[in-house]
Amino acid sequence: MTSKELRGKYLEFFKARGHAIIPSASLIPENDPTALFTTAGMHPLVPYLMGEKHPEGRRLADTQKCVRTDDIEDVGDATHHTFFEMLGNWSLGDYFKEEAIKLSWEFLTSPDWLRLDKNKIAVSVFAGDKDAPFDEESFSIWKSLGVPEKRIAKLPKKNNWWGPAGQTGPCGPCTEMFYWTGDPDKVPAGFNDDNVSWVEIWNDVFMEFNRKADGSFEPLKQKNVDTGMGLERTLAVINNFSDNYQTDLFFNIINKIKRLSGKEYKEEGTIRAMRIIADHLRAATFIIGDSKGVTPSNTDQGYIVRRLLRRAIRYGKQLGIEKQEEGGWTKEVAKIVIHDYQDAYPELSRNADFIIEQFKEEEEKFGKTIKDGLEKARQILDKKKPIPDKIYVQIMETKDKGEILGEIYKNRKTKKDEKKFLKFGISVTDEEIIQAFITGEEAFKLYQSYGFPIEMILELVQEKNLFVDTRGFREELKKHQELSRTASAGKFKGGLADASEETKKLHTAAHLLLAALRTVLGKDVFQKGSNITAERLRFDFSHKEKMTPEQIKETEKLVNEAIGNDLPIYCEEMPLPEAKKKGAMGVFESKYGEKVKVYRVGQDAKPFSYEICGGPHVNRTGELGHFKIIKEESSSAGVRRIKAVLG
Ligand code: ALA
Repeated sequence: MTSKELRGKYLEFFKARGHAIIPSASLIPENDPTALFTTAGMHPLVPYLMGEKHPEGRRLADTQKCVRTDDIEDVGDATHHTFFEMLGNWSLGDYFKEEAIKLSWEFLTSPDWLRLDKNKIAVSVFAGDKDAPFDEESFSIWKSLGVPEKRIAKLPKKNNWWGPAGQTGPCGPCTEMFYWTGDPDKVPAGFNDDNVSWVEIWNDVFMEFNRKADGSFEPLKQKNVDTGMGLERTLAVINNFSDNYQTDLFFNIINKIKRLSGKEYKEEGTIRAMRIIADHLRAATFIIGDSKGVTPSNTDQGYIVRRLLRRAIRYGKQLGIEKQEEGGWTKEVAKIVIHDYQDAYPELSRNADFIIEQFKEEEEKFGKTIKDGLEKARQILDKKKPIPDKIYVQIMETKDKGEILGEIYKNRKTKKDEKKFLKFGISVTDEEIIQAFITGEEAFKLYQSYGFPIEMILELVQEKNLFVDTRGFREELKKHQELSRTASAGKFKGGLADASEETKKLHTAAHLLLAALRTVLGKDVFQKGSNITAERLRFDFSHKEKMTPEQIKETEKLVNEAIGNDLPIYCEEMPLPEAKKKGAMGVFESKYGEKVKVYRVGQDAKPFSYEICGGPHVNRTGELGHFKIIKEESSSAGVRRIKAVLG
C-alpha cells in the first residue's frame, strides 16, 4: 500500500461515516504559547475540544503535519521521527467510547479497509488511579468485539493517558492498539508492553478533562474523542516492512542520499546516518515550507530548523557527501521531498523556491562556520587527555555516571583524586576524568563563536572519548541571555486554556492591529504569525522597513479608537470561497470545500476588521482596555514583529 492510498482510505472511511474532512493546520501553533510546533492532530483543535463550535460540525477527520523534537536522539531507529503525519478522527461532544472503538476496529480489520489480521491485534486501556477510574467501559467494548482478555492490558497513566498538548488543556484516558510485527507463527497469547514486536499503531483518547496549570483535572463541558494514527508506522506495518524508511514516504529520499554519498543502505552506522539525514531534511522542508514559513535562526522554531539542517549536514559529512555543485547538497534532498509530498501538501510546491533558497543559504553559512569551528574545536580537544577506549565504554555504561561525573567535576579544585570510579571497579582516577573534560566556557565559546549546537559538541567529544560539562555550558548560556529568550521561561507560564480571558482579549486585539497596520502601512501587510501569552501579544507581519514612531503612534491610535467605539464582534460561518469573495483576511486553503468561521468587528457595511479565524473572541471591543505597542523590530527578511499589551 502507498501512503497516498492509506491517507485516502482513512479519510474516505470517516467521510462515509459523517465526518467532515478538514485540511492539515500549520505546523506553527496559532495561539498556544506553550509549544513551538503542532505536536498532534488535536493540537489545532483545542478550542473546539474545550467547547467552541467548529464550523464543520461535530465529526471531523484529517491528516495533520506534526513535529516533536523530544525524541530526536531516537531518530535513526526503525520508527522514530521528528516530523510525522498523524491521521485522526474527532468527535466534539458527539459519539464517545463505544462508537470510537468500533470505528477503529472496523477500519483496521474489515476486508473492505485495512484487512489487518485480528489475531495480531492487542490493545491497552487505562487502569485507573486517583484522578480517574479504571476504564471498564473500553475494556468491555473490546471484549465484545472478540479481543481476548489477555490481549487487553490495563496500564497506568504513563501509558494510557494522553494530553494535554501543551502545559494545560484537554486530556483524558486512552486506549491504544498494537499490531504484532514479529514471527507470524509465534503471536503471543497475551500483550506485553516490553516486547518491541508489538508496535503501537493507533490511539483513541477520551478527552473529558481539562488539566489546569496547578496540575489538577476538571471535567470538560463536553465529552470528546481524539484519535491519532501515525501514518509512517502504520504504513510500514501494513506492508510488512521492518522499518518506516522502506515505505514510499522515504524511498526516494533514501535513494537520493545513497546516490549523493555513493554508499549502499547497508551497515548499521551508514543506515542510521542516512535515516537521520532523511528524517531531518524532510522535517526542515516542511517547517520552512509551511504557510507560516520559518527561517533558520537562533530562536524558537528557527533554532530547531537550524539544528535539524546542521545535524543532517554533519551526518552527510560522515557519509562523505561532498558539496555537489553550487549551493550545496541538502537542497537536492529538499527537491525530492517537495516532489513526493506536494499532492498532499500543496504549500510545498508553492513555497519551493523559498525552501531551496533557505537550504542553500543555511548550508553555506554552516560550511563557513564549521570550518573555523572544527579547527578551533580540534585545538581545544587536543589539549585534553582522552580516556582509553575500554574504560570509556565502561564509564558510559555505569548507571550513575552522570551524577558521579558531575560531582567529581564540581569538586575538582578542592578534592582531587578521590578515585570514585575505582569503587566501581573501573580503573580511572578522578584526576584523569577531570583532564578529559571540556569546560562549560570552552563549549560555550564553540557554540557562540562558531554556531556549534551543544548536541554537536557532545557528539564530537564522545567520538574522542572525552566529556563535556553540560551544566557549566548551560550556566554560561544563561549568563549571556542567549537562549533564555528562546525556550523562554515566560512561555511556559500557562496555556491558552488557563488564562483564557486575557488571551482572548489579546487575540481580538491582534485582529484590530492587523486592520490598523493595513490602513497605516498599506495593503501589502499580511499576518505572518502570532504568539499570545496571558501577558502580551506578539505579531509578525510582512513589511520591508522599520516603522517610524509616527506610524506606530497612528496604529495605536486606530486600535484604541476601535476599542473606544465599543464595536460589536460577530461570528459568521460560510464556505471559504464566499469568505474570500467578501474580502475576509487570513491564510487559509481550501482542499475540501470546507466551511470557515469569519469574525467581523463592527457594522456590516464597513467592518473595522474581517478575518477568517477559529476564535474565540470577546463580544465587544470595549472589553479590551488600552492598547499599547511596546516594541517594533525585525523578525526575518521582509517581516516585522510587534509586541503589544493591553492595559
Ligand atoms: N492525541 C493523541 C496522540 O497524539 C491521539 O496520540
